[in-house]
Amino acid sequence: MSHADIASADVPVIAIDGPGGSGKGTLSTRLAEHLGWHFLDSGALYRLTALAVMKNSVPVDDEAALGALAARLDIRFETSRDGVKALLDGEDVSDRLRGEAVGVVASKIAATPAVRAALVKRQRQFRRLPGLVADGRDMGTVIFPDADLKIFLTASAEIRAQRRHKQLKEKGESVNLSRLFREIKARDLRDQSRSIAPLKAAEDAVIIDSTDLSIEQVLTKVIDMI
Ligand code: C5P
Repeated sequence: MSHADIASADVPVIAIDGPGGSGKGTLSTRLAEHLGWHFLDSGALYRLTALAVMKNSVPVDDEAALGALAARLDIRFETSRDGVKALLDGEDVSDRLRGEAVGVVASKIAATPAVRAALVKRQRQFRRLPGLVADGRDMGTVIFPDADLKIFLTASAEIRAQRRHKQLKEKGESVNLSRLFREIKARDLRDQSRSIAPLKAAEDAVIIDSTDLSIEQVLTKVIDMI
């Protein structure tokens, strides 16, 4: 362990993992705000990598090229009163990032070991005082196995598709609900069955099913645990 690793081990972490549409993004942001802690949206890192892959026309099965690209990404997050902006090569790509097509490419390249390895250090750098709320798929299992609290948030695929549909509609993206449902199931399967860092609850995670819960109810539950 390096000196930096030892120092960062003193910084508390809450890891929130789960499939897309489970509400973990909203829960993590709200929790970070409530605690006044930093926030890591690790999905955004995979999405930024996906955008770079699309921009540079790198084939999604070329592991060496994907790994090299992920290692030299020029990405930045800027926080302002309007929220967090994601920049790729200095360009604000926040809106494009959330699109469904980018999510699908992100999930494909996330199965590549070289990509995951290139993103480990970037994710751990978010661990700074007073604390970190980390949102993703492998926060509690791989990136922060020593997290102080691990939550695994799930919900039925039907309700996740409906939530995602509403979210995309609000952003002006019109997607067919049954197509979204099929894509969500395919993405779940890909994320759960990959050989490296698959989507699964850590052994010491608290599992919360948000199918019949509002985000307020989930937030209250988690704050009570803290
Ligand atoms: O959470 P979000 O939908 O933004 O993530 C996009 C994709 O990035 C996921 O489907 C998943 O394949 C990948 N991802 C991952 N590990 C993380 C976060 C996201 O593999 N920690």
